[in-house]
Amino acid sequence: MPRIHIIGVGGYLPERVMTNKDLEAIVDTDDQWIFERTGIRQRHIISEGEHTSDLAAAAARQALDDAGLTIADIDALIVATTTPDMIFPSTASIVQSKLGASGFPAWDIQAVCSGFVYGLAHADAMMRGGMFRRVLLIGAESMSRIMDWTDRSTCVLFGDGAGAVVLEARDAGDEPQGGIIGSVLKADGSYRPLLMARHPHPGASPDMPDMAVDAAGVAAVEMQGNEVFRNAVNKLGEVVGDVLAHCHMQPSDVDLLIPHQANIRIINATAKKLKLGTENIAITVEKHANTSAASVPLALNTYYREGKIRKGQVLLLEAFGAGFVWGANLLRWSKD
Ligand code: UT7
Repeated sequence: MPRIHIIGVGGYLPERVMTNKDLEAIVDTDDQWIFERTGIRQRHIISEGEHTSDLAAAAARQALDDAGLTIADIDALIVATTTPDMIFPSTASIVQSKLGASGFPAWDIQAVCSGFVYGLAHADAMMRGGMFRRVLLIGAESMSRIMDWTDRSTCVLFGDGAGAVVLEARDAGDEPQGGIIGSVLKADGSYRPLLMARHPHPGASPDMPDMAVDAAGVAAVEMQGNEVFRNAVNKLGEVVGDVLAHCHMQPSDVDLLIPHQANIRIINATAKKLKLGTENIAITVEKHANTSAASVPLALNTYYREGKIRKGQVLLLEAFGAGFVWGANLLRWSKD
């Protein structure tokens, strides 16, 4: 059976930066509260006329360049997003077209903040099964479009962006230790009232009558922050243990934790559980905020481009999001 390797990495952040100071003019908040409670100092915000598919396509181009490939070399395209351009068609099919391609399969994954971790497991299984040789996997979000900009408890937390990887199936004999080692995915929909963005279409959620909408009538994120926080710490602590056990590895085998970037305090709790020092944790929450499905690949891209990921290192990726839906992947970096 082949092993699946990351052979190209890319990212894209919209030009406009919104700092905590900027937010002080919008809602009753301050830089100190936001930074102390979350670790966030700023976030990038998509511009008018730009869409999730544009962010995704930009990240994809950089990942393809990095792999030394073009879109003609790709066999399938997956976009993990919770902020698609439209209800349908899928953002993946729009991205495929924007990249100038057609023919090969393209589809979206909706696992909210865990979308990239789910996507990696998904692509790994399909590729090991021989269905595709090269897959472009993208996490892309325009979370600013589903914010209630009058709700200080949510609008300070999120940002926009995209991260992408090119995956390649290689004969296991060539690099028996490298590539994706294993994944564990979890979901429990009974927690859905704690974090959601309801469907803007009237009548779509008959069990949830008091739908939250922003001034433009668009569904907005609603969250019971401290309950989500508590669950994130517990469930991420469990799932990193589960993926290590599944792969017969120890916390001491992990060289770099690439966590979902929702809150520095959640990240530190998971790192503590694994007994990892600051130098072994990828942290981008300060500059990117929570970009949902884009957060893990954007952190990967940032650390990769800063030369902080070396061949042979073991990377642990994890994420937690609405649903709840959570999971983790272990991989050994095989790229120079
Ligand atoms: O990616 C999906 C997963 N999402 C997450 O992981 C987010 C998880 N939750 C969190 O990160 C944290 O719960 C928050 C950062 C959202 C909130 O931190 P907290 O320590 O749980 O604060 P809290 O919700 O208990 O609120 C504490 C106080 C409240 O005031 P009172 O009731 O104590 O007077 C809030 O009204 O902080 C107030 N507050 C704010 N103050 C200034 C809430 N938001 C703000 C704000 N600025 N932006």
